Amino acid sequence: MSAVPMRSESGRRYVLANWKMHKGQTEAEAWARTVAQHLKPRPDVTVVVLPPFTALAAAARALGGGVELGAQDTYPGTSGAVTGGVGTDQLRDLGVRYVLVGHSERRRLVGEDDSWVSRKVQAVLAAGMVPVVCVGEDAEERGEGRADGVVRRQVAQAVESVPAASLARIVWAYEPVWAIGSGNPATPDQAAEAASTLRSALRSRFGAEADNHPAPVLYGGSVDPDNVAQYAGAPGLDGALVGGASLDPDAFVRLVERVAP
Ligand code: PGA
Repeated sequence: MSAVPMRSESGRRYVLANWKMHKGQTEAEAWARTVAQHLKPRPDVTVVVLPPFTALAAAARALGGGVELGAQDTYPGTSGAVTGGVGTDQLRDLGVRYVLVGHSERRRLVGEDDSWVSRKVQAVLAAGMVPVVCVGEDAEERGEGRADGVVRRQVAQAVESVPAASLARIVWAYEPVWAIGSGNPATPDQAAEAASTLRSALRSRFGAEADNHPAPVLYGGSVDPDNVAQYAGAPGLDGALVGGASLDPDAFVRLVERVAP
């Protein structure tokens, strides 16, 4: 394992707003309009909003140039006979560039397992979009000293069928389950250590290729405007995946402004 914490090769930061199951069309459009008005251009930060499927189009209509569109999930296929499904063709049609895969709420509440995550990663890559793959242990796993093993397993399974050439197109998010929505974020050291474990798992799978394209690793779990700078600029971390604190547009603008250059 490298002693020097790595960052993604560009030094680019990412801030993602994960609305989860919040906001209808009117609120989505209002959020996008407010952020477009107040967010000062940050060429060094990629800002992405992830509305629910039903509000993607409304948000897209009002988004300014400084914010990209993402989805919280996808069916692992383009289109077809999948009742209730939303496929990658439909996401691309709306202008989606980023797709969350394997968020712990989907793993736990909807029963998505590692093989489902692996299929989604492949589908998003095949569609030319960027998968943002979420990994992270729960409180019990951390308490039993199994956090590293969980992260390693989730990473290994997610990229099982991914060719090395696609590695540079994946963004990762370390989101310990115990930190999500709890007001109890991981410390920057814990997050950086998990990011290092994650990169080490990629090295085990891809060898030198993983070092040629250091993976961007974001931290998520109770990030807010007051603590974001600790994660989005810390050694080994490339940004933040923000849930609750992204819902208010003014607070979110403040949060992005606090990401160190
Ligand atoms: P939180 O959620 O910021 O509300 O903790 C983060 C996430 O689940 O992506």
